[in-house]
Amino acid sequence: MNKYDGTPLELTDFSVETDVFRRDVVAGLRNRAKSLPSKYLYDKRGSELFDAICEARDYYPTRTEIGIMKRSAPEMARAIGPGAVVIEYGSGSSLKTPLLLEPLEKPAAYVPVDISREHLVEAAERISERFQDLPIMPVCADFTRPFDLPEALNAKAPRTAFFPGSTIGNFTPSQAQTLLRNMYDETNGGSVLLGVDLKKDVDVLERAYDDSEGVTAEFNINLLEHINRELDADFDLDAFEHRAVFNEELSRVEMHLVSKKRQVVTIGDETFSFEPDETIHTENSHKYTPEKFAELAKPAGWRVAKIWTDEKNYFSIQLLVADK
Ligand code: TRP
Repeated sequence: MNKYDGTPLELTDFSVETDVFRRDVVAGLRNRAKSLPSKYLYDKRGSELFDAICEARDYYPTRTEIGIMKRSAPEMARAIGPGAVVIEYGSGSSLKTPLLLEPLEKPAAYVPVDISREHLVEAAERISERFQDLPIMPVCADFTRPFDLPEALNAKAPRTAFFPGSTIGNFTPSQAQTLLRNMYDETNGGSVLLGVDLKKDVDVLERAYDDSEGVTAEFNINLLEHINRELDADFDLDAFEHRAVFNEELSRVEMHLVSKKRQVVTIGDETFSFEPDETIHTENSHKYTPEKFAELAKPAGWRVAKIWTDEKNYFSIQLLVADK
């Protein structure tokens, strides 16, 4: 048991190695349409900037989701049931976690999973101070691939995957389906409580991903800084700018870094050239209708048991259960 007594929590560590980071970056920039994996946005600085995005005036999802949780968490907790192991995917600062843990009846353990190790450990310690009797078992992993859960986990306790923040939208529909299928395996066909951002007015969407305070722009540019620092690269941070556009056909906001001029960038001993206006695609945020999302979840083994939304219907929290 992890009674908070100042001893460090037991961390299960599968963090990404530098050579994997390098290989992913080089492969992305060698594509004809250049891209970079969005998981590398979340270094220490990136995770801090992401927390700032969540508080930006124009970024509605966090505020809206927290509002829904505050109103309906007791009902969510009842639907999940007693004695559950809560596995949080991409837990970041675990800011929403207490809203769920508080009303849950006798949760068996909390397993936060995140790629950003320092951020993960800090958050896990904060949660363990607050929930003193709850075993906390952080796992540093890239949850986009199947990963092993801590061995200490009770194999018989029911499991629920907690996946707030509409992170599911950051995957293509087919990747999202694979991830939901992994969750089915990792929870032994238990349940998933996840945030799904809904389709809405284009202006509202584009403003949320290019906020007037410029925090999202800084977050996106920080990816280049992360590459400069860890991979011995020389991206000129002032020679790229952030762009967010809604792609109607694919129902997603696309984030890009746009080269302001013709330029050559060096990463280690490799070079990459950019034309003026050429972009690096860094992230997508898919927006779903409830019907489309249910269609996506079904082949992964899930049925939508319940949906909670806000009065504007901007955001949804959905409970998925095994579709037996
Ligand atoms: N899950 C968040 C979302 O899609 C992630 C996010 C918010 C994000 N703003 C971003 C990712 C800007 C990249 C760039 O809303």
